[in-house]
Amino acid sequence: MFSFFSKDNAFGVDIGTQSIKIAEIKEHKDKIELENYAIFSSEIGEIIQEQGEHTMAASTIAETVQRMLGEADMSMNEVFFALPSFFTFSSVITVPTMSEEELAEAVPLQARQHVPVPMDSVQVNWINLGKHAKEEKLNVLIIAIPNSVVAKYQNVAHQLDVEINGFELDIFSRLRSLSLPDKHTCIVDIGSRSTSVSIVDDEQNLRMIRAFDVGGNQITDRLSNALEISMERAELLKVENGLTGDPGVASVIDKVLGKFFRKEVGNMIQEYADMMHAPVAQIELAGGISQMKGINNFVEDTLQRSQSRQDITIREARPTSELAVPEELREVFFEDVWHDLSLAIGIALRKYV
Ligand SMILES: Nc1ncnc2c1ncn2[C@@H]1O[C@H](COP(=O)(O)OP(=O)(O)OP(=O)(O)O)[C@@H](O)[C@H]1O
Ligand SMILES: [Mg+2]
Repeated sequence: MFSFFSKDNAFGVDIGTQSIKIAEIKEHKDKIELENYAIFSSEIGEIIQEQGEHTMAASTIAETVQRMLGEADMSMNEVFFALPSFFTFSSVITVPTMSEEELAEAVPLQARQHVPVPMDSVQVNWINLGKHAKEEKLNVLIIAIPNSVVAKYQNVAHQLDVEINGFELDIFSRLRSLSLPDKHTCIVDIGSRSTSVSIVDDEQNLRMIRAFDVGGNQITDRLSNALEISMERAELLKVENGLTGDPGVASVIDKVLGKFFRKEVGNMIQEYADMMHAPVAQIELAGGISQMKGINNFVEDTLQRSQSRQDITIREARPTSELAVPEELREVFFEDVWHDLSLAIGIALRKYV
C-alpha cells in the first residue's frame, strides 16, 4: 500500500523511570533533521519502569506510547529502543592482549564472574574498548541484558504493532546525540531514579561506564520527609530553588548529589586517570538534573574541594551537529526540550550515523 507517511523516518523511544520520550528524525536534502517529537511525564510517584517489581505493565506503556503518537500526529512503524543502564549488568574487564577470536572464547567465561544472575537468564554482549594505556592489556566492556527486559520491550513493540530495528545500551545512544569535545570527557546522566556515568577518551571511544541508584526522586523524597510536605510540593521546591535559592533546599540537594559527585564520580575520574594516564578534562551533564539551577557551579565546587582539581570544565551537554533542527522548532527545541529528547534522538540517529 502506498502511504505518505514517514516510511523511512527513524524513531527513538526512551522509556525512563518517570517519562517516555519519542523522537522522529528524517533524512532531508543530505541532512538529518528533527521531524517530530513527544514527551510524556508521569505523575509523581507513578513509576513507568525501574529495577524491581512495581512497574507499569507492557500494555500500559504501549497504550501511553500510542496516545503520545496520536497527539503528536506521528505514525511509527519501526523503532529503536535504548535499554536503561540500570536494567543491565555492565562492567569493564581487563584481559591480556589477544585476537578477536580468542576474545570471543575468553570473554563469556570471564563474564560469569561479573554477572550476579544465572548466565542463561541474560544475553551477554561485549565490546573491545581497546588497549589499556599502562599495560599490554585490553579493556573489554561486558554488557549482560536480562532476557525478561528484552521480552518486555518486545511485548511493548508487539502491542504497538511496530518492528524493532534494534536495541542498544542507553549510553551509546546518549553519546551519539551529543557534541563532545576532543578531550577526555565524563558524561553524567542523572535522571529521576538512576544515573549513568561514562568516560570517553579524546577520540570519543567509550572507556568506562557505571550505573548508580541516585537521581532527582531521592532529592524530592528527602525534601518531603525533612520538611514534612507532600511529594508534589517537594518537587516544586526542588525545581524552583535548585541550588541557588533557599539554603535549606540546597543543603538537602547537597546531601544527595554532593556525596555522589565526591565519591562515585570523583573515584571514577581518578581510576580513569590512573588507567589512561590522562586526566578527565570536561564533564558533560545530561538528564533532567542537568536543568537544575546552579548545578554546574555546584559540581565544579564539589570536585574542586574533594580533589583539589582546578582544571575540569563543567557544562550542560549539547546536541550533536549531525542533527539539523528546522527553523520553526529551533526555539522550543534548544530552550525547552533538547535535554529531554537527547536520548531518544541518539537512539533514532542510529539509523543514519
Ligand atoms: N529544572 C529542574 N530542576 C531540578 N530538577 C529537575 C529539573 N528538571 C527536571 N528535573 C528532575 O530530573 C528528573 C527527571 O529526569 P529525566 O527526565 O532524565 O528522568 P527519567 O528519564 O524519567 O528517569 P531515569 O533516566 O532515571 O529512568 C526528575 O527528578 C526531575 O525532578
Ligand atoms: Mg532517562
